[in-house]
Amino acid sequence: MYSTILAEIVDGVYVVTINRPDKMNALNKDVIADLSKAVDEIYNNAAIKSAIITGMGEKAFVAGADISEFVALDKESGSGLARKGQEMVFNKIENSPKPIVAAVNGFALGGGCELAMSCHFRVASENAKFGQPEVNLGLIPGYGGTQRLTQLIGKGKAMELMMTADLIGADEAKNLGLVNHVVPQGEVVQKAKDILQKIHTKAPVAISLVIACVNDASNGLDNGFEHEISRFGACFETQDMREGTTAFLEKRKPMFKGN
Ligand code: COA
Repeated sequence: MYSTILAEIVDGVYVVTINRPDKMNALNKDVIADLSKAVDEIYNNAAIKSAIITGMGEKAFVAGADISEFVALDKESGSGLARKGQEMVFNKIENSPKPIVAAVNGFALGGGCELAMSCHFRVASENAKFGQPEVNLGLIPGYGGTQRLTQLIGKGKAMELMMTADLIGADEAKNLGLVNHVVPQGEVVQKAKDILQKIHTKAPVAISLVIACVNDASNGLDNGFEHEISRFGACFETQDMREGTTAFLEKRKPMFKGN
């Protein structure tokens, strides 16, 4: 099904591993196409409740877009590459109704940092390093990095990181709010799985509405409050809301069915 990624469903979690370790898992056209298919699978396969994106090996999550593919690009095809990537992969990950977590197992640079940031949240291994070093190449981020880094860590710090091309370690990334948890190398996928298993016990429709509402806030939508009001109302049409409130009142655990 895929040529550049490995993917398997484990306990309802679709674990997607970018598999080009000899090239630091750099995002070439084939990886972008495979990730796009994988995200479609997350949306459409009922057996998948959530997903993890990680990289093969102990060195890199993803060390960026594949720089060797940049040589042949001009203004139009450069914009096309960014647009295609944003539309086929990064925006679809962000807007997925099912939670998608980045398990950052090493370098997350350029497109790799952007890929991690498009996920709903991030866990990182102690050796992870984050950065947007595009200015070293005479470029700027093109897969949403200028927007999502600013949303996640604030304008001043985002400006500095993107202008200096500095890399930051996992602990600093955590202090800045870029990652939620830092764990020893080798435990990063398990940590993401543990969090997702907890989320699996909650009402799936409500989870998808949380994602949509929080995305409204980070995308600067001025009617985010209105959307929250209507989505709050929509919860009352779900069986899961009836089950959740009834279970609380009956002092038992809810059994959510996702409808
Ligand atoms: N695109 C294409 N190839 C890449 C790559 C990228 N973004 N990042 C790493 N590679 C390749 C290297 O060319 C090398 O290939 P080779 O063995 O065929 O020569 C291989 O991956 C290993 O990388 P190498 O640089 O030898 O490893 P390192 O441990 O010395 O350094 C990094 C690791 C991540 C610091 C370094 O590879 C790097 O700076 N990569 C580019 C990061 C970047 O600028 N990303 C933004 C792109 S827009």
